Amino acid sequence: MGLPTTIAIDGPAGSGKSTLGALLAEAMDYLYFDTGVMYRAVTLAALNEDLAMDDEDAVGDLSQRIRIDVQPPSMDDGRDYDVLLDGKDVTWDIRSEVVNKYVSPVSTYGAVRQAMTEQQRRIAHENKVVMVGRDIGTVVMPDAELKIFLDASIEVRAQRRYQESLDRGGKTDFDSVLKSLKNRDQIDSSRKIAPLRPAEDAVVIISNCLGIQQVLKIALKLVKDV
Ligand code: DC
Repeated sequence: MGLPTTIAIDGPAGSGKSTLGALLAEAMDYLYFDTGVMYRAVTLAALNEDLAMDDEDAVGDLSQRIRIDVQPPSMDDGRDYDVLLDGKDVTWDIRSEVVNKYVSPVSTYGAVRQAMTEQQRRIAHENKVVMVGRDIGTVVMPDAELKIFLDASIEVRAQRRYQESLDRGGKTDFDSVLKSLKNRDQIDSSRKIAPLRPAEDAVVIISNCLGIQQVLKIALKLVKDV
């Protein structure tokens, strides 16, 4: 078989899947698409409109009305892409603490998932893509030729997220990062629709003791072996 045209990378927060996805896409000259940004953009839009975050119908309706674009980076400030919400640059706003807090509950809503899944499938059909998320191998692109599930222990993932926050000048402490990750893991893995779990035919990589370059090397080998 030739090179896979769709590569799905799933895993929990802090597993390193976004970094791997970006590097793999660059190495292969494929589009890198981090689907988490879409759920984050819906969450931000709902916060901006002052919707009650537990109002599933209102947030679901909103998700059908907004336009989310992900495009090549317009600035050299550490971003891998621009995220536009109805034309406005929200690349960093979607990473705020308040979005972190509500994004997992919002991503359990059926109407939100349906709207996001449709857009993700369209993008995958139009491009050679490395698509990163929670349900890409199981639901969005079950026919992807290569599926990777990247995982690491909760402590390792929390340490990575804590370090990233420090590097960006953040003031959160390790225990809050750990608590927030545990909370999101719990919601993402136990939701009824498209829960976080490896597809049956996914290759599971545990990155506790692996640096990102080692993970990339494994992924590139898997690409060639498809
Ligand atoms: O990868 P991330 O941390 O940016 O994802 C934010 C949230 O979006 C995550 O808690 C669960 C949700 N998500 C999802 O449900 N399905 C995806 N394909 C990607 C993200």
